[in-house]
Order: sequence, then C-alpha cells, then structure tokens
Amino acid sequence: MADVTHPELTKPVFEHHPDGFGISNPRPRLSWKFLASAEPTRGWTQAAYEVEILRHGDQEAQTFLVDSEESVLVPWPAAALRSRQQASVRVRCWGQSPDEHGTVRRNPEPTSWSPVASLEVALLEQSDWTASMITSSRRLGPEAPLQPLRFRRQFEIPSSVVTSSARARLYITALGVFEAFLNGERLGDECMAPGWTSYNHRLTYRCLDVTPHLRHHGNNVIAVEVAEGWYATKLGFNGGTRFLYGGKDIAVMAQLEITSGARSWTLTTDDNWACAVSAIQSSELYDGEVYDAREDHSLWTTAAQDADKMGTRWLRVKTLPQVPGRKLLTTSSPPVRVIESRQVQAIHKTPAGKTIVDFGQNLAGKVVVKSVTLAAGERLVLRHAEVLEHGELCTRPLKDAKCEDVIIGSGEEICNWTPKFTFHGFRYVQVDGWPGSEDELRSALSASVMHSDMQRRGYFSCSNEWVNKLHTNVVWSMRGNFLSVPTDCPQRDERLGWTGDIQIFCPTASYLYDTVGFLENWLEDLSSEQLEQGNNGVPPFVSPEVPLLTWPRRKPQAVWHDVTVLTPWDLHRFSSDKVLLERQFQSMRAWLEQGVDRGEDGLWNFYLWQLGDWLDPNAPPQNPALALTDKVLVADAYLVHTTEVFAQVCALLGKAELATKYRAEASTLKRLFQDKYLTPSGNIMSNTQTAIALALQFGLYRGPAQRRTASRALSKLVRTAFFHVSTGFAGTPAVLPALAGPARQPQLAYRMLLEKACPSWLYPVTMGATTTWERWDSMLPDGSVNPGRMTSFNHYALGAAADWLHGCVGGLAPLGAGWRVALVRPVPGGNLTHAEARFDGPYGLLRCAWRVTASPAAASSAAAGEAARFEMELEVPPNSSAKVILPCDWITDPGDEAEEAFTLVGSGVHHFACDFVAGEWPPKALPPPNMPYSPEMDMVAE
Ligand code: BGC
Repeated sequence: MADVTHPELTKPVFEHHPDGFGISNPRPRLSWKFLASAEPTRGWTQAAYEVEILRHGDQEAQTFLVDSEESVLVPWPAAALRSRQQASVRVRCWGQSPDEHGTVRRNPEPTSWSPVASLEVALLEQSDWTASMITSSRRLGPEAPLQPLRFRRQFEIPSSVVTSSARARLYITALGVFEAFLNGERLGDECMAPGWTSYNHRLTYRCLDVTPHLRHHGNNVIAVEVAEGWYATKLGFNGGTRFLYGGKDIAVMAQLEITSGARSWTLTTDDNWACAVSAIQSSELYDGEVYDAREDHSLWTTAAQDADKMGTRWLRVKTLPQVPGRKLLTTSSPPVRVIESRQVQAIHKTPAGKTIVDFGQNLAGKVVVKSVTLAAGERLVLRHAEVLEHGELCTRPLKDAKCEDVIIGSGEEICNWTPKFTFHGFRYVQVDGWPGSEDELRSALSASVMHSDMQRRGYFSCSNEWVNKLHTNVVWSMRGNFLSVPTDCPQRDERLGWTGDIQIFCPTASYLYDTVGFLENWLEDLSSEQLEQGNNGVPPFVSPEVPLLTWPRRKPQAVWHDVTVLTPWDLHRFSSDKVLLERQFQSMRAWLEQGVDRGEDGLWNFYLWQLGDWLDPNAPPQNPALALTDKVLVADAYLVHTTEVFAQVCALLGKAELATKYRAEASTLKRLFQDKYLTPSGNIMSNTQTAIALALQFGLYRGPAQRRTASRALSKLVRTAFFHVSTGFAGTPAVLPALAGPARQPQLAYRMLLEKACPSWLYPVTMGATTTWERWDSMLPDGSVNPGRMTSFNHYALGAAADWLHGCVGGLAPLGAGWRVALVRPVPGGNLTHAEARFDGPYGLLRCAWRVTASPAAASSAAAGEAARFEMELEVPPNSSAKVILPCDWITDPGDEAEEAFTLVGSGVHHFACDFVAGEWPPKALPPPNMPYSPEMDMVAE
C-alpha cells in the first residue's frame, strides 16, 4: 500500500452557498471535492471522513469521525448553529483503493486536511430583526416612475464596543434595489441587490462585513440609495403593470451590528434617518436611467460638515408596517455582479448620421463612461439594441422598452459613470450628444457584463469551429439570462422568469455553471406562488408572477408548468440534493394532482389551449403557437414523462406507496398515449420531428417494431427537410438526442447539427450571431429582422441542444445522482475529428477527450462509410466512477433492446481505443423528384 497518492481536498462548501457568509441554515450540509493530482491514484474512493469544527469563541475544536463514502451534502455533524455564529471547518478523509492484485484496501493514513472554510450564520429568527422598513415621509418626485431615494444616518460608535477585535455586520434589504455606503465607500460589489423574489412571499437580505469601513472615533455615516428595481417598476408586455407588490414606496431596511466580545451595539433604520431624492431622476428596468449631474452632491455618503455639499433637501422618513407572511431570509443564489468588461470593437456612422458603438458581443449589462464633460443641462443619450437593420440601430424588437440611459451634464467632468439600477440587453449603443472625438469615445466607453455570479464548471470544444462558436453563443445566452432569476431575454419588455424556457434549458445550464443555489431560490418562489390558495396547483407562466396583459392568468400548460417536477429533478441529477426534492415535493404533487387539466381518461383536456411546440419554424411569424405538431400530443407525451419522473422522486424520498401509485399511473397514461396517438405499426399521429423525437426520448413506443418504424420515419422527415430543424421549444432539446440515441442514427444528428442554411443551429452563426436567438430566423437571410412581434437575439431556449454536445458529442452525462457515476458514451461522427468535454462537478474534474483517425485495419470491414480509429482519454475524479461505452459497442438497430457492452472505471486517467464505423457521411437528403440531387445538398459546416 506504500504508493497510494491521496487526492487533495478542496475547501468544504456549505449547502449551495457561494461562500458560506450569511447562511440561513443552522445545520448546513457540507461538501468537498477532490483536486486532480499529477498522478491520480486509480480507483480511489473515500471510506471515512473527519470534520473539524471550531466555533469562534470556543477554545477547542470538535471533531467528528464518520465512516462514510459520502462527500457531497453530508449532514452537519455538530449542534445547530445560532444566529450570527461563526465557525471554521475543515475536512480530511481516509481512502481506499485497489492494490496490485485488485483487492480494495483501506489506507491507514488520512489525506491532508482541506483548506479551512469559514462560515457565518445570518439572522435565523424574524425576531433577530429590530430594524424597520423606512421610506420618505412624503412623496418625493413623480408618482411614477418613482425617483430613486437616498437615505442617510450619521452616528458615533459608543466607546464600549470600540476595540480592535470589534466586528461589524450590516444586514440590509430594500423594497427596490439598493447600493449602500459607509463613510463614503461602497459596500460590496453586488448589482441590483437584493435581487428579485416574489416579494410578498420572500424578501432576501444581504449580510455584509463592514468592519474595515467603520471609523471608531468621530462621526460615521451610513448611506443607502434605493431605486424601484423589480419591486415597483412596470413589468410585462403591452404597457406592463407597475407596483406589482402593492406598495408604492421604495424603502430600505438595515441593521448595523457592532460586536466586541460580549458587548454589542446596533443601529437600525428607524425614523431618525433622513431621506432625499437622488441625482438619478428615474431608473427603470425597461426604460433605463436618467442621471442629472447638476443634482449630485458627492458628499451625501460622507460625514460632511457642510450641509450644502450633500444637498439641502433632506427630509424625515417614516416607517412602513411589516407585510404579514413575508419571510426575510438570505439565499444561496449568488449575487449579480459585473463579471467582465468589454471594450469597443468598432464605431459606425450610420446612413442617418448617427454614431453607433459596437461592443462585438450581445450581452446583458450596462455601459461605463470613463470620463465626459458636458455643459450644464447638455444631454448624452445612450440607446441600446442588439442588432442593426439597414445600418441603423434596430429598436423594434425591444417593443415597449426604451433601453435608454441619459446623462445630463453639470459643466464638470463626470468620471466612471454607469447606470446603477438598470441593465440592458445589447451589442450596439447609439451615442447621441457625445462632446468629443471618435477616438475619445472609443477609449471612454466600455460595456460591463452583468449576471448572477455562479461558478463556471462545464466546458466543451471540438475540431469544428462552427460548432464551437455555437457553443460559445449558448454560454453567452445563458450569461445574458441568469440575472437574479432565469429569464427569457434581457432586452425587451419581458425579462421574465418564463417557466418553459428554464424547464428545457436547465440541463444545459447546470452543466455550464453551478446553478443549484440560483435555481433552488427561484423554485421556492415558483412553489410559493403556485401553492397560494385558489390557484389549484397551477403555477404562474412566469415566476416571480407578473400579470401578462392579454394573457390568461394561471392556465395550466404542459412543458412550461412541467418545470415544477422536471427542474427539481434535473437539479437532483446534477447535485444529488434530496432536501431540495423534499422542499419542492408539494409543488410537484400539486401540479400533477390538481394543476394538470385532464380529460376523463386522465390525459390532458383535449380542448385546452396549449403553447405546444412553441416557435416551430414552420409556424407563421405572428403565431408561434401554430406548430406542425399537435399540441395535445406534446402535452400528453410530457405528462407521461413527468408522471414517471415524479414516481422516481417518490421512490427516492422513501414514499413507497406514492411511488407505486405513480408508477402505475405512468404506465396507464403511457398505454392511453399509445392507444390515442400510435398506429399498431408505430406511426404517430403527428408525423413530425418533434412528435417522434419526444416519443422516442420519453420511451413511448410499444416495442422494437414500433421503434424501428419511428427511427425510419424520423430519418425520412429529416432527410426530406434537407436536414433543417423543424422543432420548437418542445422538440428542440429532444431531436438530436433521439436521433443519436434511441433512433440509432447519430450521423443524421450530426448532419442536422452541421447544417448552415435556415432554419438550423448554425444559421445564426453564419449571420454573425454572438448569442442564441429566440427564433430560428430572428434575423432573416437578407439581414432584416423577423417581422414577428417578439424577436429576441438573446434567448437560451433553442440552445438546449448544447446538452447533446456535452452528453453525446463530448460524452459526459450524469448517470448516478450528482455525477457520482458518469455515463461516458461519446458519439464521434460527422466531420468532427476530436472533441473534449470537461466538467468540474461535485467530485472534481471529469474530462473526456477523444480523437478519430482513419484506420486502415478497420477499413476492410466498413460496410458503409469509412472506418475509423477512435482513441479516448478519460479522467475520473476520486470517489466517483464512470460507465464507459465505446463506439465499437454501439447497438445500431433501434429495435434491439439488449444493453450495450460497457466498462466501469474508477478514478484516475484511463485510455481507450477501438475501431468503429460511423456510418454514411454525409447522409443523403431526399429531394422531391423534380429536384435533381446537387452537391449543395451535401454542404455542411466544415
Ligand atoms: C417568451 C418566451 C416564452 C413564451 C411563451 C415569450 O414571449 O419570450 O420565451 O416561453 O413567450 O409564450
């Protein structure tokens, strides 16, 4: 056993919290992972772990030794933590690995200790809060939009808590979005704090360490600026609705606590604070921000002696009553931050003589102006848009959102200006009123990319640069739409938490970034809103709920509302978090038991209006629901799948009776689906890419013969469509996996992937897209923008195909919950000669890199297409394993029900090689008889 190399452990994390500071859980579960060492030991698994916990203030640490293989979300071993309590935690493990004879032996030596992780508990009880929500005592500024307010309070710290070990915490939240300052310094770097939740159910607060900003002697000033944010701004299309949560006042609630040993002192928001209007005249999510430099007083955040320099009109504040039932809590959802800054790529003069700055990337965020001097009253206007049309800024797709920021000059230099309380979805900015030269403009402007600061963890690349660009675009559309809540788009008058969009994109997103903290936060709102009395288990279309004028409220919808079951399930697949499943359980069950509007047979109500395969490219631009595939068929296919998943959830959570009930219900529904939609030989009622792909993916065919029919029918549809996509939201995530998986036709999947003409995944890439689009043809081939009313250039939904890139092309998918066991089944094909997928998951880095070369040895056995040599390097992190299926072991008959041959491997670096025959490339289209076959039909992205 002498040569075992132990893996190194990472710093433990608490629940899904980004840093453990300000957690709302008194018994946070712990997870650690393993760092790849230069020579990772093969087959290393954990046999036991030891957790050391030092509560601050205690003399001695406690240790807990646990015989367990678990390293993800293990229970908190000590007594529950109290509000404000701090602790340091580290972990070490004992491992076991096979010796030279293959016998697994436990190593007597533990690993080294992990780095120490610190945690601090937030305020666990509502009674820990003594602060009041405060707002101005009388209306300042217009009725709407509300003008941002400034709040301030001057104070001295009592000498009893002035010690060198004093620690200061600010617990703060707002009705609106805020920035806080202590003695002139900005606290933290969060944008749009505290984010968007369903405020009448849950209001999140922040916990900030403000110790370094305090002045122990003399005057301190705490100052907070608050704007309407999601709380009061107008939200939703067709004019939107203001004051969604009832309140017409923006407000702040803050509690500053200074602790020194056993002594503490607290300053809270109360009627001793003062309030004034901000220099920001208005700041709205859709319309943008107007800043008047003449009204600014830089000293308002500091302990100015001279009242004039901080503005004179400071008023009293009043306190607002508590909203009954609203919970105050912290969240594991990471804060929104400026993640990246991008420079100007080009400046265009338009035919109309306008100046347009191009940042080269469609993004969500805001512009920074490094320096500008405008005469008093002069306006600099920044108008944002995603695309140009006929050389001009194209604002039609923004619908009723103005997306305009304005700076009004004071005659003095304005430095590092950026809007504080809004964001836009843009690549281009039209600049009106720039006082300097083009060169000065180029160096003065930059774009800040904003999103929730989740941990990036999944990567993909391959030999085809078109596909790589597609993948990069998918990542950018995720970044553009994970801003506090998962949105449909970041630019027009929506930016809402559309349930269907995240339902289909969650697996892709969860590979790319660690989404669990972010999405569990969102799911809690979804279920709170769904389970409100009177909703009969039906969630809103968008959560947090926003009334959609001209839309029905709470109409049960397949695909969209199946998010209640499928998204927690996906998060469980990525994290193995059963507590999350338990928390969402009532929501899942309410959806299936009350929400789904069923006909007498238990399938969906036949007459119900459904969005169905929304945005099928065959639907007319003005009616995206008019898809080729029958909508109820889509809904019913999903219902069988959702019921099956729910049965699995019941089983996992130990609810055996319910599991049996739902397993039986799923098989009844499946039979009903088969009777309703399938002919005995396996033809499906809607003969479309979406219908067949869903039925294949959800296992709805009756047996081998029907699956063969389905595979043939799908092949014919794809070939007669010249490999164009003909799926909308429902079919898009399914069609490539169905072709490469149950239909056993991976080359057809590649052929579709590599098609460049519209509609296809690569068409937007040929048009210079830098994000994924809402429509397959958001921009038409002639460069004009789709005439449909909704046309975004930053929607992640159709990018859900990247899940296939990760799982099939790259070859990495979760098999056991939380990636304890990975399925490694790479599917080489098309014109790709290599691909690599890397996933830094719950156990550490999993990496699969493959390469294909011509194989003279295998050539003689090639029946169709060229034989190839496949070589793969696979790295599996400690304490996990992988089930590996090589291309030579693929089953090629869609009717064959045998299991493919596989190898199970443990941690370490493994090499595999085999000969294989990918099949005909490129596969042939099926043109109509009056169209002779031409070489263009075989043209793919090279
Ligand atoms: C949104 C979507 C959404 C759809 C449903 C659109 O306006 O942008 O992505 O899922 O409506 O109707």
